[in-house]
Amino acid sequence: MLSSKKRLLTGIQSSGVLHVGNYMGALKPFLELYEDYDSLLMIADYHALTSLKNPKELARNTLDVAKDYIAVGLDPKKAILFKQSDVPEHTELAWIFNCLVTVPFLMQSHAYKDKVAKGLEANAGLFTYPMLMASDILLYDTAVVPVGEDQRQHIEYAREAASKFNTAFGQTFIEPKERILESSATLPGTDGKKMSKSYNNTIPLFGTDDEVRAAVMKIVTDSTPAGTPLNTETDVTFALHTQFSQNDIADLTNRYREGNIGYKESKDILVQNILSLITPMREKREALSDDEVRNIIKEGGERARVIASAKMIEVRKNIGVTV
Ligand code: ADP
Ligand code: TRP
Repeated sequence: MLSSKKRLLTGIQSSGVLHVGNYMGALKPFLELYEDYDSLLMIADYHALTSLKNPKELARNTLDVAKDYIAVGLDPKKAILFKQSDVPEHTELAWIFNCLVTVPFLMQSHAYKDKVAKGLEANAGLFTYPMLMASDILLYDTAVVPVGEDQRQHIEYAREAASKFNTAFGQTFIEPKERILESSATLPGTDGKKMSKSYNNTIPLFGTDDEVRAAVMKIVTDSTPAGTPLNTETDVTFALHTQFSQNDIADLTNRYREGNIGYKESKDILVQNILSLITPMREKREALSDDEVRNIIKEGGERARVIASAKMIEVRKNIGVTV
């Protein structure tokens, strides 16, 4: 299908159970964007292999991440949803980029330096990770790459790979731009710090009613007595209302200021509003079978491969391996 839309590609490593912060900060902004482009969403299973060596878990994570995205609203007919390992051109092109960039250049990678600084063993895959990611992006003549702030450097690496290749072998790749996805706010977790799976302070996106309720009830509060005004600037529950309670926010603001709501009632309202957002997603997720998702990914891989293999014909010719 010929499209006049610009190409968009992003990749995701499955990194465990999603929380509502991930949804507001990454998934929702992606969903608002992808239909304006000719979009590909890639599950980066070969990238995940740099840290995960458990076949069952890797396979499970791949299906889960695809389910998560479909459940929150990604329409697989409106984007190519595929996994990296189904398109071997990615690893093939990564080799070629590895032959163009220097070791000191790759050593500047934050992701690599962080691992080394933590004393963790860095495998060679982790070291060359940015060149596999550059291949993911450049194979599809991608214009826009929506990512979180932490991935900005990786997109710079992709531009550098494109430019090095073009200089050495003639114009072949376009230089992509990052599009940093941000929610209007960083959601606080139940302890008031940034919500993060590493802090054990999350509200799960696909949790049961009871799990969501329990997480919200854990949110820290101060000891302001009932009947006294509550501070909308500092209250964690209120910060979450600004994301989940749009329809009630004017009323809640008044009631906070007038001292006419207590923390318990405020939390009850928050639970209701979170549940009304996530219940349909949860139901959609439960209705998706593994086989259905396998088929979607397989078909996506076939469509992606048509684009990638055409590009590789050009690449092979340009570097001189077509004799
Ligand atoms: P975690 O901190 O739970 O490990 P990740 O680092 O895997 O989350 O984040 C994946 C994406 O989700 C990030 O790029 C970011 O955009 C978004 N995100 C994570 N936590 C939050 C949060 N508390 N508020 C808003 N967005 C978030
Ligand atoms: N490195 C990205 C992350 O950890 C995942 C990723 C792999 C990616 N390939 C990509 C993101 C290509 C954007 C484009 O989040």
